[in-house]
Amino acid sequence: MKFSFFNEISPPLIGVDISSVSIKLVELSDDGRGGYKLEGYATQPLPKGAMVDGNVSDLEKVIDVMRLAWKLLGTREKRIALALPTAAVISKKVQMAAGMREEDMEAQVEAEANQYIPFSLDEVNIDFQILGPAAKNPDEVEVLIVASRKEKIEDRVAVAEGAGLKALVMDVESYATEAAYSLVANQLPNAGREQTVMIADIGAAMMHVNVLHDNKSIYTREQSFGGGQLTQEIQSRFGLSLEEAEIAKRRGGLPDSYELEVLQPFMLSIATEIARALQFFTSSTQYNRVDHIVLAGGCAAIPALDVAVQSHTQINTVIANPFNGMAINAKLKQQQAISDAPAMLIACGLAMRGGLAI
Ligand SMILES: Nc1ncnc2c1ncn2[C@@H]1O[C@H](COP(=O)(O)OP(=O)(O)OP(=O)(O)O)[C@@H](O)[C@H]1O
Ligand SMILES: [Mg+2]
Repeated sequence: MKFSFFNEISPPLIGVDISSVSIKLVELSDDGRGGYKLEGYATQPLPKGAMVDGNVSDLEKVIDVMRLAWKLLGTREKRIALALPTAAVISKKVQMAAGMREEDMEAQVEAEANQYIPFSLDEVNIDFQILGPAAKNPDEVEVLIVASRKEKIEDRVAVAEGAGLKALVMDVESYATEAAYSLVANQLPNAGREQTVMIADIGAAMMHVNVLHDNKSIYTREQSFGGGQLTQEIQSRFGLSLEEAEIAKRRGGLPDSYELEVLQPFMLSIATEIARALQFFTSSTQYNRVDHIVLAGGCAAIPALDVAVQSHTQINTVIANPFNGMAINAKLKQQQAISDAPAMLIACGLAMRGGLAI
């Protein structure tokens, strides 16, 4: 099977987001009115050491969790869309003559890739997509070339196969975020058009930043920062196990000192990280401001995080709800789905790779 980063598949697929600490699944369907219906979603934690730095480290353990997550989803669909971590791919935009034949184009993509990929070409999978006419030269087109080491792709495919599933799409996390952004853009004034929007996806270990201008991605950055730090602080301060700390964090029940002495300082450190990310962005691009911040990832479920980030950065801040406006399968708990929604952003973007017309 040839793997393509840009496969266009028509029936919906299950979007599968494999992070270092969990596997998240989202299944969407066509609502018959030009939108999506949320059929189901599931999250399962991964044991420590199963995934390390975005790589499959203990294949059997990851397969077991994948199988369990798929069972919990309760579907018959076995076709899935996966993504590589943004850091595992090298991408570059180049310009090429317009109207080239497919074979000539492939040859030129290889020649271009050869110049900037630090591995031998037979160790990598290369894919490309024509983005459109080049801005300054009508005789040229802009082409996005994406490459990743074959083993990174094969490892993830092995997880799918081991769990009895069929991987049809291998995407990139930042592209999945960009795709899912179309679901949350309508939470912003003028649906985000002509504005600069920073999506900050704060997970357990990583903060993924993606800035879009006029609904197109212009900047991505990842740094190690996440809710795992808060979990650890809860563990050590209140003498809890990892599991207990994780449950207490979500359901409450911690001593009164938690709010003021642990949670609020952590919320401030999120706001500070975002302010730093804003600074990095403005100092390394031609842009000098961001109009809106969209918070995603599991940490976005911390109550009033949007208020804390907005008051620290002075930038309008909203919590991503990719399920916003979707019909929701009656078997799901509506309220729970809304609170889980920000963490499902990447999985939603992948589930949308079904190529449904919306
Ligand atoms: N209701 C909640 N309140 C506070 N924190 C929460 C809540 N729900 C989830 N989290 C935290 O969010 C984090 C998980 O987020 P997410 O599922 O986005 O991470 P991930 O995608 O698995 O990991 P990463 O992207 O960092 O590799 C955990 O630290 C978890 O404790
Ligand atoms: Mg994540």
